Amino acid sequence: MGTFVADRRNERFQLWLVAVGPLQEQHVAAERLAARVAGDDFERAIRVDDGIFRLPILADENRVDARLDRTLEQQQRLGRQDGGIRISSNENPLGPGKAALDVLAGRFVEAGRYPFNAIPGEAQFAATIAQKFNAKMENVVIGAGSGEILRNAVRAFTSASKPLVTANPSFEAPFRTAEQIGTPVKYIPVDSNMRLDLEKMADACKGAGLVFFCNPNNPTATVHGSKAVAEFVARVRKVAPTTAILIDEAYYDYVTDPAFSTATPLALSEPNVFVTRTFSKAYGMAGLRLGYAVGQVKTINALVRYRMPYGCNVLGIGAATRTVVRLVKQSKKVSVASAKT
Ligand SMILES: Cc1ncc(COP(=O)(O)O)c(C=O)c1O
Repeated sequence: MGTFVADRRNERFQLWLVAVGPLQEQHVAAERLAARVAGDDFERAIRVDDGIFRLPILADENRVDARLDRTLEQQQRLGRQDGGIRISSNENPLGPGKAALDVLAGRFVEAGRYPFNAIPGEAQFAATIAQKFNAKMENVVIGAGSGEILRNAVRAFTSASKPLVTANPSFEAPFRTAEQIGTPVKYIPVDSNMRLDLEKMADACKGAGLVFFCNPNNPTATVHGSKAVAEFVARVRKVAPTTAILIDEAYYDYVTDPAFSTATPLALSEPNVFVTRTFSKAYGMAGLRLGYAVGQVKTINALVRYRMPYGCNVLGIGAATRTVVRLVKQSKKVSVASAKT
């Protein structure tokens, strides 16, 4: 089995092929896969280690996709086990969980409804998210993926005279949007340990409209603990009280560092702070396009103005609502159980 890791640093698209597991046959499978994906370019591949290839790819990402998809299709037809998993978008190859799939299967009849008329619809979904955070529905905005909210945040809070501050490298949606609409971007390099330089980012916020704090950060996979996040927010609020602070927690569910915890309480207690989350990663629903942001009402209203009306589909809303309801119930059970002991 091979996995694909795209490395887009320095704007050069490279593809790494990594064999999972130590078995010789997996290394051979990865090599075969690398050769198929790279085609003629495989001659220029660098073998980094057993089963790991650095492909001098391929200016055009679509070419890779076309080759990869063809490869996967062939393998599905042939029932072979040496396929690749494309993880360059950090999707969850396992897909949605069983409860979510059960909802999806029974939900097609609702596809005739607009998302505000479906049951559950957008409002119920937002209310369920709010309940999870002990907040009100007005503290939540939903989007077609958190990507929609990241883009809308740049539109809502920045302008030609109010720059975006972002780490470099960091997730690209905010700075790409800023470039599209003519907002200047202050790129703050990560430090020598690939961690966000929070002091420099906070200081750069003077006069900025929005700061993008990706925690964990894609693509460096670094994470900052709750104390550092609170200090960052306090510092930004001091040097730039009107700058909006976007804390992206797309990879929240994967963090094992005990110093980390969600910044949602901060978003609910502090003006101008909001946290975005997604169902695309740990929940395996990237294709269903669903994300949300949590923050104070004024901050959320600024984002709601830019929302695509009825932009979230009823299938995703149904699956995600069921998932969150289950998780809220489970966490209640867990806290009751632990309170007794
Ligand atoms: C850090 C980060 N934030 C947000 C997103 C957007 O994901 P989605 O629009 O699927 O919610 C991604 C996707 O790769 C991401 O890596």
